[in-house]
Amino acid sequence: MRTPLLILPLATMLATSCTTKTPQLGTDPIDDVIAAMTLEEKAAFVVGTERMKVTPPDRAPGMPVREPFSDELKAKLAQCKDSAEAYDMMIATSLVQGKVAGSAGQHYALPRLGIEPIVYADGPAGLRIDPVRKDEPGEFYCTAFPVGATLAASWDVDLVKEVTTAMGNEVLEYGADVLLAPAINIHRTPLCGRNFEYYSEDPVLAGKIASAYIQGIQSNGVGVSLKHFAVNNQETCRNGVDARLSERALREIYLKGFEIAVKEADPWTIMSSYNKVNGTLASENHHLLTEILRDDWGFGGFVMTDWWAEENGARQIAAGNDLQMPGTVRQLDDIINGVKDGSLDEKLLDESVRRIMKVMLRCPTYHHYAYSNQPDLEAHAKVTRQAATDGMVLLKNDAKTLPLKSQPSTLNIKVALFGTASYDLLVGGSGSGNVNRNYKVSLDEGLKNAGVQLDETLAKTYSDYTDAELAKQPKENFWTIPVAPEMPLSKQQVKAALAQSDIAIMTLSRMAGEGGDRKEVKGDYLLSDLELANLRLVCSEAHAVGKKVVLILNMGNIIDLAPVVDLPDAILHAWMGGQEMGNSLADVLTGKVNPSGKLPMTWAMKYSDYSSAKNFPESDGDASYARYEEDVMVGYRHFTTQGIKVLYPFGYGLSYTTFEYDDMQVKKQGDAYEVTVTIKNTGNVAGREVAQLYVGKPKAEGYLMPAQELKAFAKTSLLQPGESQQLTLTIKREDLSTWIEDNNEWGILSGEYRLMVAANANDVKAEKTITIK
Ligand code: BGC
Repeated sequence: MRTPLLILPLATMLATSCTTKTPQLGTDPIDDVIAAMTLEEKAAFVVGTERMKVTPPDRAPGMPVREPFSDELKAKLAQCKDSAEAYDMMIATSLVQGKVAGSAGQHYALPRLGIEPIVYADGPAGLRIDPVRKDEPGEFYCTAFPVGATLAASWDVDLVKEVTTAMGNEVLEYGADVLLAPAINIHRTPLCGRNFEYYSEDPVLAGKIASAYIQGIQSNGVGVSLKHFAVNNQETCRNGVDARLSERALREIYLKGFEIAVKEADPWTIMSSYNKVNGTLASENHHLLTEILRDDWGFGGFVMTDWWAEENGARQIAAGNDLQMPGTVRQLDDIINGVKDGSLDEKLLDESVRRIMKVMLRCPTYHHYAYSNQPDLEAHAKVTRQAATDGMVLLKNDAKTLPLKSQPSTLNIKVALFGTASYDLLVGGSGSGNVNRNYKVSLDEGLKNAGVQLDETLAKTYSDYTDAELAKQPKENFWTIPVAPEMPLSKQQVKAALAQSDIAIMTLSRMAGEGGDRKEVKGDYLLSDLELANLRLVCSEAHAVGKKVVLILNMGNIIDLAPVVDLPDAILHAWMGGQEMGNSLADVLTGKVNPSGKLPMTWAMKYSDYSSAKNFPESDGDASYARYEEDVMVGYRHFTTQGIKVLYPFGYGLSYTTFEYDDMQVKKQGDAYEVTVTIKNTGNVAGREVAQLYVGKPKAEGYLMPAQELKAFAKTSLLQPGESQQLTLTIKREDLSTWIEDNNEWGILSGEYRLMVAANANDVKAEKTITIK
């Protein structure tokens, strides 16, 4: 383990020599420690250690351009004496090596006060640290678990808890304290580059999955940082784009998931986002960080900035943003000068220090946890293999094309495997959410592991091509994950492969990641000409000889599928499923696991049908802001209210079996409504079903009221053929509330509320009405 280079500031040394006993964090009361701190130490404590670096340039138009660390500032620092000299020394510590190599950031150490740095690392699909270290033997690989959208598509809170219990164990065993996850921003548009990390277009699904995620991680005695708070729904101009929206859309859609997660799961920390919300940067937004988060929801942890988000460090502290990560010298300057010139009340700074210290004392570092650097990666591989299957969504399965074993040659099935992605699956997105895993299983390997034969001639052509294409590209790094382009197919090649095979499988993939949004262009949201040509060719040749085609989608988001939806016989949305994805896919394709995922977003007929399309990523041709004109009508709220036809509705997903919904009952239990429904497996194989409870609120003058809003959901256990299970879906009275703009508060409208039990947003199975006076 590397020992951090610690340089004691001069002021610190002076203070040490004239104090008999300096209060120590962890031993003495926090308030005593704070009382013993100099202003510079407090400022150093709330600003991370990376102070020499510069702010990245992608700021929204109109935002001040931040100069790199300037000569003027350097000169100023050079003249500092005493406490100011300490300030200078602090800057020198920006060269300190992190305790855990490759982690995202850590605190400044203040040994005089017993303050040890705690370590923050990404998230969210697993722990992100350097897998090998220059000065330390051994390997430090982490498990790449399924991405956020895959977890959300499972609609399975128990599974999510199981995944994150394993993930949190890696955080603990590799010596980190806080995982920078989960990320739960709303899928306002299918084009957001980070949707793969995020969960859903619906805040209840996002909030419940996040709660489970947080509980699993924190059960290990390490913390999370729930992010990005808030309204961070795009990557274009993310460092400052102004999200302009109504207070109602803010409360009901964009904050609701955070509210659920904060109230149910008590995250240790929250990360504010880069963007502005109604004109004020999220990290300087008192309304968000203090009035709502703390005063209203009772959040007891601390808030940190997203990396390099800064305009004014003193304003961030005053707004309730306690920690500035990874820290810039300007933020130190702002805070110290702010207190000195009276524009920042030192009590607020003390409060930030206090909040951070409280969390620190819960961290493994403060319990001197002897981490092993050897988590049980084999056990975690099993967890991720199963988890990825749980999120896969079967979109189409004509004439029981899947599972493969129902094909004629059951024991000896042979597959013609098309698509470069089949030979190099994309198991996670790029950016801070990418995990340094030590392997990934491709689909050809997964199928072979499952005993499925491949047409070897085709497989060899594809793997050689894929390897050669990948070799031309830079190695995987933070921003880029190499993707092999599609391989042109000839008619003869396809015919030959099909002649040797029982069925064709083709995988199409899309990479996306932090720092950029997707576009409605060919090869991105739209299929490329080559993808289209290959798919058409394989489908027509296969059908001509009476063979079927399965299309697998390997992406953290969706693409324009409507133009080709009729071509293949089956379509499986497999998302990005973590390092075991090839095995997980084989489990589903062969029927070892019956798919039970459902869509966490609506799949529209075309991009322009999404209600945000006109205002994404900007409004009025001005990239500095995006008007959320659609208000609360996001995703299915828009489609169901307007009656717009969709390709696949929110909450949709097929199974290899069928289910019947029966006996819906509503019981009032104190302040809550308990809705029960009995689900029966009416097919021939075991399976699981997700039931959803939507509420249609009464109409109220002047209010855009969505036709339905998800309020609860539940997933059955594995039901054998003929087996039934009663599910309970609970709605609390407050879940029925609406944000009343005129009063600026939540209120419950009187009238009739429709309670709908549904298999998806467009398939209501039973409904009852309750009246609220
Ligand atoms: C991302 C965060 C991440 C942080 C630290 C930022 O660029 O937006 O999600 O946690 O970096 O890596």
